[in-house]
Amino acid sequence: MVEYNKIVQGDCLEVMKTLPNESFDLVVTSPPYNLKNSTGNGMKDGRGGKWKNAELVNGYADYDDCMPHNEYVEWQRNCLTEMMRLIPNDGAIFYNHKWRVQAGFLQDRHDIIDGFPVRQIIIWQRKGGINFNAGYFLPTYEVIYLIAKPDFKLAPKANAHGDIWEFKQETNNSHPAPFPVNLIDRIISSTMAETVLDPFMGSGTTAIAALLNNRKYFGIELSPDYVSMAKERISQFENQPRLNFQRV
Ligand SMILES: C[S@@+](CC[C@H](N)C(=O)[O-])C[C@H]1O[C@@H](n2cnc3c(N)ncnc32)[C@H](O)[C@@H]1O
Repeated sequence: MVEYNKIVQGDCLEVMKTLPNESFDLVVTSPPYNLKNSTGNGMKDGRGGKWKNAELVNGYADYDDCMPHNEYVEWQRNCLTEMMRLIPNDGAIFYNHKWRVQAGFLQDRHDIIDGFPVRQIIIWQRKGGINFNAGYFLPTYEVIYLIAKPDFKLAPKANAHGDIWEFKQETNNSHPAPFPVNLIDRIISSTMAETVLDPFMGSGTTAIAALLNNRKYFGIELSPDYVSMAKERISQFENQPRLNFQRV
């Protein structure tokens, strides 16, 4: 039996393997993108180059984000396989990633999601940002794969949303790559899920959005620093619920 409303520090693949089948109605997550393994000059520019999160040049606290591509793909596919095992027949995974050009080819992540039941792609359109790189237009979108089991249905009226979502990136968070709360609130409130897993929990955004919607969360995060950050954020939220949140 899973204890919900909890964040576990550890490797998500190892922790997921200890959890029973169908423990969660929904998975919402954004893995590390393997950005340091890049042929482009964006990440090599000390100011962050073409990337929105200049801080990512310094990497995550306990993870270098630089695996050989094939190893990274295999790791992510193993993670998705575990996530699929952990949701029931009416469950879904919202898997956030980034497309990019590598050595002249589009790396659209099909090698990761190939064979999984991708039902739809949502574009998350961020707003603005600073571009230090004269050779590229400013990148402003990411993709969210809706990977759904056959009986998954949206909450009533959620199908009125389009498939391009415009939300400002998060600026008030010291994690190098946080989700905006509004983005995850849109996902969770669009489902009837009662329990939500984020195996790459980072600063706890999925937990905050779950609590905002009166759902239960379960998070896994490798970095002890980010686990503390998430717990601190959750306890602040629990002391002042909804104070800083406005649905847009
Ligand atoms: C893109 S960030 C997630 C940010 C999160 N969505 C938020 O709003 O703060 C990816 C996270 O995965 C964590 N991570 C990297 N490898 C991991 C692993 N093997 N198991 C669990 N977490 C891991 C990193 O430390 C990082 O915090």
